[in-house]
Amino acid sequence: MVDTLKKQAEFTEMRPGVKAPAAETLLTPRFYTTDFDEMARMDLSPNEDELRAILAEFRADYNKTHFVRDEEFAQSWDHIDGDTRRLFVEFLERSCTAEFSGFLLYKELGRRLKNTKPLLAECFTLMSRDEARHAGFLNKAMSDFNLSLDLGFLTKSRKYTFFKPKYIFYATYLSEKIGYWRYITIYRHLEAHPECRIYPIFRFFKSWCQDENRHGDFFDAVMRAQPHVLTGWQSRLWCRFFLLSVFATMYCNDVQRADFYAALGLDAREYDKHVIQKTNETAGRVFPIVLNVDSPEFYERLETCTQTNAKLDAIVSSSVPGWLKSLQKLPLYASNGWQLAKLFLMKPINVSAQHGAVR
Ligand SMILES: [Fe+2]
Ligand SMILES: [Fe+2]
Repeated sequence: MVDTLKKQAEFTEMRPGVKAPAAETLLTPRFYTTDFDEMARMDLSPNEDELRAILAEFRADYNKTHFVRDEEFAQSWDHIDGDTRRLFVEFLERSCTAEFSGFLLYKELGRRLKNTKPLLAECFTLMSRDEARHAGFLNKAMSDFNLSLDLGFLTKSRKYTFFKPKYIFYATYLSEKIGYWRYITIYRHLEAHPECRIYPIFRFFKSWCQDENRHGDFFDAVMRAQPHVLTGWQSRLWCRFFLLSVFATMYCNDVQRADFYAALGLDAREYDKHVIQKTNETAGRVFPIVLNVDSPEFYERLETCTQTNAKLDAIVSSSVPGWLKSLQKLPLYASNGWQLAKLFLMKPINVSAQHGAVR
């Protein structure tokens, strides 16, 4: 009991058993909103058949009975303790917040497009059904560690980032596809090393990631219906920007939490490199360009960012006055800005010529 309390005390609670949400930073999952009227005006006819086929898949609801907690969950998880417990709860919280963010956006899109774009609206509503299941399942998992998230509070308290539809498509397409690769890579690893499966949720990732894959395919189809999203120099620059943002955020986050991946028998860096490689390849089927992630420069610069972030963390947790902290942080922000700018300027790989050859 005392031990449990000690473990609980590592997190701030809003109410007993309800975890205060992690502070919002550049690296935490975002909540999005968009221009619903612009979305309602989109012409989807160039790819309507594919969208109808995807809707049929969503309606089939393959994972209807998948997210049911079985007897393996019904045990004490107090043996996952100390830092591993803290990192594990953080992993569940981040994943839950990201899934919930998808739920909110898709649900709102489903609601707002109902009368003007029924095909799109139904796809969004069915995707929000999936994301609600994912977020709920993760939140339930948190309760095994005597904590949960107040998702209603999160809905009201979080800042929403506005993106025009085009940018929503790049960002959500990538987050669905990277989500697929993250889940399937953990699943495959634990399938080969069952002794590292410290908690039953990972068993669910195989069918779960298929939901994310289908969601990604939906955005792929929407972008193909809107060729201006995928052509021209501006689109190329935006694809570069979003690929880099998604990869850099994940790499910095995961390296910072390497102990969590180590608890699963994974090397955070190797895991991320694999996920980045695969997501980059997948994105190449629809984006006109992908990043040159095979160049040593790519990870050298990301490593510099992770070292800078570690210094930033040390400043935040130091006892110096606030004004001095801000001063100390400045050159480090400038360093990260420089590294990211250099990464952005790295020559991308043009893949548009390969499109149509393989789908
Ligand atoms: Fe999801
Ligand atoms: Fe998803």
